[in-house]
Amino acid sequence: MDKIPLAIVGCGGMGHRHLYGLAELNDSGLSPFELVAACDPVRANAESLADDAEERLGKRPAVVERMEQLEPLGIVAVDITTTPRHHHTVAVEAVERGWHAMIEKPVGLTVRASNRIREAAERTGKIVSVAENYRRDPMNRLGKALLDAGAIGSPRLMIHNTMGGSDLMLITVWRHQKNQSGVLLDVGVHFTDIIEYYLGPATTVYAQTRLHEQIRRNIAAEPGGSSPRNPSVVYERWQKQMPAEFEATADDASYATLLFESGAVCQYIEDHAGRGQGVFTRQIHGSEGSLELPQDRSGQLLTLHKDGEAICDESLLDLVPDFHLEPIIAALFGGDRLWGYDFPFPVTDRKLIAAEYGELGLAIENGGTIEVDAAQGARSVALSYAMLESSVAGRALSMDEVLSEEVDAYQHEIDEEIGLV
Ligand SMILES: NC(=O)c1ccc[n+]([C@@H]2O[C@H](COP(=O)([O-])OP(=O)(O)OC[C@H]3O[C@@H](n4cnc5c(N)ncnc54)[C@H](O)[C@@H]3O)[C@@H](O)[C@H]2O)c1
Repeated sequence: MDKIPLAIVGCGGMGHRHLYGLAELNDSGLSPFELVAACDPVRANAESLADDAEERLGKRPAVVERMEQLEPLGIVAVDITTTPRHHHTVAVEAVERGWHAMIEKPVGLTVRASNRIREAAERTGKIVSVAENYRRDPMNRLGKALLDAGAIGSPRLMIHNTMGGSDLMLITVWRHQKNQSGVLLDVGVHFTDIIEYYLGPATTVYAQTRLHEQIRRNIAAEPGGSSPRNPSVVYERWQKQMPAEFEATADDASYATLLFESGAVCQYIEDHAGRGQGVFTRQIHGSEGSLELPQDRSGQLLTLHKDGEAICDESLLDLVPDFHLEPIIAALFGGDRLWGYDFPFPVTDRKLIAAEYGELGLAIENGGTIEVDAAQGARSVALSYAMLESSVAGRALSMDEVLSEEVDAYQHEIDEEIGLV
């Protein structure tokens, strides 16, 4: 069968990581794609991705700076890994040109931008998949299977607490700018996705958010400096060009209570300014026990606490006799009933991205389902913004108020800037 012609649009850090994911899928013999173009207005970034592609895929894709230059190349799908500010313009243009799209999270920069992408997907009938990697981690698949099998009874409370970061730059400057994303969206949207993955639809949010660290430091720009925030070791060349110190404009901490249709509650802390003890806690407490979930992409074990016992070994699988990873994830991770895995971070990173590509390929070729579509992607963006909007409003907000764009005081100036109001 002919390969699906694909372009990667956005050739920065994640664009390169997506290429590594595509190469991983290719190496496993499961890739239905041919990478025909690398697109980025910063030509050097597209050239760099094309060089890497030649090395890893054996063929150099065309290098282009604008989407219309993709037209003569017979593109069927684009993989959008631009900064979030450009997701909606690129994605809407792509589906209107008749191309399917995978879009990195957050699907859009604001709820309004995300809704525009969802509407364009519905209008054109094109596939839009959100590249949400955390939920595809085999450990989250196992955690969800245990929950669905009733291993802890009915979920009552989820505790999701993360703290750390001090005044250091998180990967890039734009992650600290309100009009370009902000950390509570950039990182938070992974967490809001995983929380709805486990607990189902959220209904109500109350939060206090803060901007604790108004000046952020970029250690990579210091002489001989190297940033500790450099996932998959691809960002340093850009980090060295960024300012050593800059003003942050987006809130960097959220302390929230989330309610769910099921009646469950989530106690949520996402604090990127923590200067003391680092925290990662994700637990789900149910009517018969609790689950302690490991950090995403770590391969560490999850623990089931029940009847005074703690189970964190292979016997967890006895509780989920029907648990099987999807064939692509099983092939990439080396087993379809995994209870742990052990790869260096860059390898895990590219396997999860390979799984996203695999799902997209099956959807294009055989009408397979898309797990995180534009509607679910928009929900995760809305749940992240619901916390920021609740803090501005000084009251609890319903998800409906935020998802429908009725409440947008925090986002309004961003939407104005990107021409959506
Ligand atoms: N899932 C994950 O684990 C994960 C990790 C990192 C980043 N991301 C997401 O990936 C996306 C990209 O992040 P990044 O870290 O690669 O950022 P980055 O700043 O390293 O790269 C962004 C690239 O997009 C390019 N770009 C900007 N506008 C464009 C346009 N209109 N057309 C084509 N290219 C354009 C820039 O020139 C740059 O090369 C973001 O949405 C981010 O949230 C996801």
